[in-house]
Amino acid sequence: MKRIFSGIKPTGHLTLGNYLGAMRRWVEVDQHRSGSLFSVVDLHALTIEHDPARVRRLSRQAATLLLAAGLDPELCTLFVQSHVDEHARLSYILECTATDGELRRMIQYKEKSARARESGQSVRLSLLTYPALMAADILAYRTDEVPVGEDQTQHVELTRDLAVRFNQRYGHTFTVPRATHPPVAARVMDLQDPTSKMGKSHEAGAGIVYLLDEADVVRKKVMRAVTDSGRDVAYDREERPGVTNLLEIMAACTGRDPRELAGEYGSYGALKKDVADAVVEVLRPVRVRHAELAADPAYIDEVLRKGADRARGMARPTVDAAYRAIGLLPA
Ligand code: AMP
Ligand code: TRP
Repeated sequence: MKRIFSGIKPTGHLTLGNYLGAMRRWVEVDQHRSGSLFSVVDLHALTIEHDPARVRRLSRQAATLLLAAGLDPELCTLFVQSHVDEHARLSYILECTATDGELRRMIQYKEKSARARESGQSVRLSLLTYPALMAADILAYRTDEVPVGEDQTQHVELTRDLAVRFNQRYGHTFTVPRATHPPVAARVMDLQDPTSKMGKSHEAGAGIVYLLDEADVVRKKVMRAVTDSGRDVAYDREERPGVTNLLEIMAACTGRDPRELAGEYGSYGALKKDVADAVVEVLRPVRVRHAELAADPAYIDEVLRKGADRARGMARPTVDAAYRAIGLLPA
């Protein structure tokens, strides 16, 4: 059995990037392999300025959307990170395994801390230590595979390093995990700025397709996507980032090859129209199901409660083993 774990932060409304880069594969592939866990990682949403009521709302919405997208609680374990104490318990142990230099080298830390400083905000210590918590999320379940978008590669690499280091120092405790990515759309770019990632916590929404956007809003955003100065439709990430992003989105939505698709279009306008249709079709069932599920919050609570119970049972023995291995007296 391969253990699979992945998570999603409730820092904003979920986007097409989350869906194509991660969620869709969790639904279509990962949950059908036994022993998969998916978590709304709410503790990670506290590393930047946040509004408590909004985090609560977004956590519930993320769980509802994961179910709406097709996660089946009979097949996988879906839970909220903060409901399982083992994550925070293990995170401290991994902070004692990681080095300050290692955490300061994380690209996401460098970018986000720079952005916070520019806008005059203080940088929370948890923004620096966040990869230790993410490593704890993964290692607590002896995870083999972590299905994520490309932006998480560095964090999963660090998790591997920490697992290897801990095992060498204190005896074999953790499984060394690896990241897996979707074949296309592992990094969906912002439609208005195709050189930066489509990220849910970005301020401007015009380049971001949210999973709950109405069909006409999706169409408008896609039709207004920034394209490149050339005129022919070519697949080239460096020279044609805008068109390439659209081709990747289209490929991911239709299961086609992006290079092959490029050959079928003579103009940007025709491509955009088809991309808009493809995205609307992919999101339609998710939106419909979300509306049904959102009307039954008791069901969501029940799924999350059962999920947390199950997750706790899985994480506990590994975290206890790590506590003993590192030299803490058993309680
Ligand atoms: P986050 O929204 O940062 O919690 O990310 C949740 C999952 O979605 C992670 O596996 C990310 O790698 C993935 N993800 C987020 N944004 C994108 C994007 N623009 N393209 C591809 N994957 C993404
Ligand atoms: N850091 C991830 C992100 O920003 C979210 C996350 C937290 C995660 N813990 C995880 C992803 C564990 C995979 C496994 O997208």
